[in-house]
Amino acid sequence: MKIGIDKISFYTPAFYVDMVELAQARGIDPDKFTIGIGQDKMAFPPVTQDSVTMAANAALSLLDDVDKEKIDLIILGTESGIDQSKAGAVYIHRLLGLNPFARSIEIKEACYGATAGIQMAKEYVANHPESKVLVMGSDIARYGLDTPGESTQGAGAVAVLITKDPRVIALEDDNVFLTGDIMDFWRPVYSETAVVNGKYSTEQYIQFFETIWAEYQRKFTYSLADFTAICFHLPYTKMGRKALNTVIDSVSSEDQERLLENYRLSTLYSRQIGNIYTGSLYLSVISLLDHQTSLKAGDRLGFFSYGSGAVAEFFSGTLQKNFQDYITAKDHQDLLDKRKKLSISEYEKRFNQQLPTDGSTMKIESTDDPAEIVLTGITEHMRQYLKK
Ligand code: HMG
Repeated sequence: MKIGIDKISFYTPAFYVDMVELAQARGIDPDKFTIGIGQDKMAFPPVTQDSVTMAANAALSLLDDVDKEKIDLIILGTESGIDQSKAGAVYIHRLLGLNPFARSIEIKEACYGATAGIQMAKEYVANHPESKVLVMGSDIARYGLDTPGESTQGAGAVAVLITKDPRVIALEDDNVFLTGDIMDFWRPVYSETAVVNGKYSTEQYIQFFETIWAEYQRKFTYSLADFTAICFHLPYTKMGRKALNTVIDSVSSEDQERLLENYRLSTLYSRQIGNIYTGSLYLSVISLLDHQTSLKAGDRLGFFSYGSGAVAEFFSGTLQKNFQDYITAKDHQDLLDKRKKLSISEYEKRFNQQLPTDGSTMKIESTDDPAEIVLTGITEHMRQYLKK
């Protein structure tokens, strides 16, 4: 039985920061951000969006009534969750009006969380072929104003429906995964921003890729030339390219050209959004599907997932017949085109906006957030959500 991605979409908030303006405000050569890091815009969430609302907004357009009835497992991968106890997926379950006889849980392992969810979903569908599983990766990447990580922030969510006989990508059973206890990036429970050993994290990302790729080559017969494209977790768009560079010389110049062009196309959305942590790998998959018109059924895509701390995984999938009919490129481009640019001073002001943490009530009276699902305030430590 084939199992995999039946539907896939993303959501990103309605505001962004221009990376050239950010560089100028920080006294940095803009080329460092646009070429050295490879980012043009950075998504920024209003106070009315959090990991719950963004995930729900990503899933909203994806699901029809049959899906809503058949989904009985809802998994949210996030590292910017809103509660230490209650799973964000429980709120999402209500906001989307899903079947009450369902499991709703949250998974954490840095940017790897959504991949863990997808693999769990695949195994669940193997045992329950009539079930559908909704997996989301949703995050706000925050390092702080004027920090080295600032240019690699972002916000957004990806939603994926995992089913049997998937219409977009069938996932193979060729997973290689790797765990190593390292301190490259983490966020203690008392901190709003991540702690990061930047250079070390980039070295470890590459090291994990090289180790996993060598093991993949040892275990499976597919070589790099068998892949139409490799999609990477993209903390910033230069990062995946550095990992790809370590293996690209092993194939012919024709294969190199294809893999590099498809890598470029897979980074187009991330260039305009930034790091969305758990969703980033899947945002690169969507970017490839939306932009590469020469893709065809049977093409093999590789996926490299990396979550700091660290857990990484490589696996592959093949495009299914008529997958093009389920690609929503226009909706995605509309979402990006409708965004509003924040000046650097407006971004800095908004960056420090917080909900009260002392139990007092805050109602967000006026909002310029056009999203369908929003946070409207907080009462006695309870976040209030609304589907307009
Ligand atoms: P930095 O110190 O600001 O930058 O840190 P840099 O000095 O390393 O420069 C970056 C690149 O720009 C370099 O290119 C420079 O040469 C180039 P490279 O040598 O790497 O190819 N450059 C220029 N290029 C053109 N014109 C110029 C110019 N100046 C310099 N004028 C760093 C960069 C990414 C480390 C920092 O932003 C950071 O700490 N970010 C957060 C951590 C991160 O994203 N790590 C990625 C790997 S870990 C991961 O992916 C997991 C993660 O997503 C979290 C999770 O799993 O939950 C982060």
